[in-house]
Amino acid sequence: MMKREHWGSRLGFILAAAGSAVGLGNIWKFPYMAGENGGGAFLLIYLALVFTIGLSVMLAEMVLGRMAEKNAIGAFAKLKGGAWPLIGFCGVAAAFIILSFYSVVAGWTISYMVKSVTGALAIEDPDQLGSLFGGFISDPVSPLIYHAIFMVLTVFVVLSGVGAGIERASKILMPALFALLLVLIVRSVTLPGAEAGITFLLSPDFSKVTWTTVSDALSQAFFSLSLGMGAMITYGSYLSKKENIASSAGWVTLLDTMVAVMSGLLILPAVFAFGFDPSAGPGLTFITLPAVFAQMPFGSFFAFLFFLLLAIAALTSAVSILEVVVAYFVDDRGISRKSASITVGVIIFLMGIPSSLSLGIMGDFTIFGMGFFDLMDFVSSKLLLPIGGLFISLFVGWVVWGKAKEDIALHNGIVPFWINAWGIIVKFIAPVAIAFILLKGLGVL
Ligand code: PFF
Repeated sequence: MMKREHWGSRLGFILAAAGSAVGLGNIWKFPYMAGENGGGAFLLIYLALVFTIGLSVMLAEMVLGRMAEKNAIGAFAKLKGGAWPLIGFCGVAAAFIILSFYSVVAGWTISYMVKSVTGALAIEDPDQLGSLFGGFISDPVSPLIYHAIFMVLTVFVVLSGVGAGIERASKILMPALFALLLVLIVRSVTLPGAEAGITFLLSPDFSKVTWTTVSDALSQAFFSLSLGMGAMITYGSYLSKKENIASSAGWVTLLDTMVAVMSGLLILPAVFAFGFDPSAGPGLTFITLPAVFAQMPFGSFFAFLFFLLLAIAALTSAVSILEVVVAYFVDDRGISRKSASITVGVIIFLMGIPSSLSLGIMGDFTIFGMGFFDLMDFVSSKLLLPIGGLFISLFVGWVVWGKAKEDIALHNGIVPFWINAWGIIVKFIAPVAIAFILLKGLGVL
């Protein structure tokens, strides 16, 4: 059997995993969810969930991957078998679903990069920008072309391999992402009137908090940290036994959270400075922000940088989603990386078509009262990821606990002092809390 490929360096792994975590979830979703859910209150609940359940599941996934040296399905099959690989199958299904609509939104960001260069976004009136956005996403052809371009880029990185593709792309793109983010934050927080946005994000208003807020924060945490579908199992499977895996999990969680908070600090002050509504929803980045940019000196330039930032963030995340599926076909089905990447890429492109069309000509077609796009988002982020996280915790806590403890200590032979706290979280707290929040959020309890 061929030896499994390993990451070239610790930094390479951390950047690739952070690249997976940092994505549209942080820059596009987080600020508008915070805007809709009372700002600071949402932030506090989010942080509490990320550093308890999120961090624990992150470590659990990485450990599973490294122990098994296998993809999301194969890892469960190798470590225990029985019905457990079903968790991996749900993860692979979630990967197909998430990437199909993720790539549609990522395509919008590429189109908006082009629009900022051509000057099409230099409009100060949000209503007009709203019609521009609405007109664009409901067009039956144009968004699909950008969706295709984005899938081609994603497939290209994945078929180039773990080291030569994923790790190399992350090492170039992630530093670029951090640099862009810093430039844009400095621009945003130095706008006159920006303090209102900062205060909004940092001072909690608990009157807006309901169980839906908490369950939104939980699904946002799973989505943002790339948990629950085996992305971190897959990336962990390329880790060498010498690595300090707990510290890597900590770094990835921290970086992802920092970027979410920083995106809030980038977007909300600018929105407040120009007197727009922070609870504008998913349109916040595509409608309100261009209006903000249009009112600034060199606005088109900053708009271009912003949509470039979004596109880069989306690409490194999309790569990890595709890798979940490709790793399975390469490990367990004996298919070459190249054929697997291209075939799966084409299938996911096709699955994205109804999502994109549901925002336009297929708009009247609903299932459970939701359009196709919203349904895909709901099923994956609200159900599959948290449920996946629940079973991953149970598996690590109850089925392979002894081996997992050994794996954590591999790099220096010392079992860390916090191991039992982690044990209590994966055995009891995470499964119970996830189940409770899910049921509350769905209105079952
Ligand atoms: N974490 C990515 C984001 O925040 O945009 C999205 C994502 C990537 C979700 C990988 C799930 C996943 F496995």
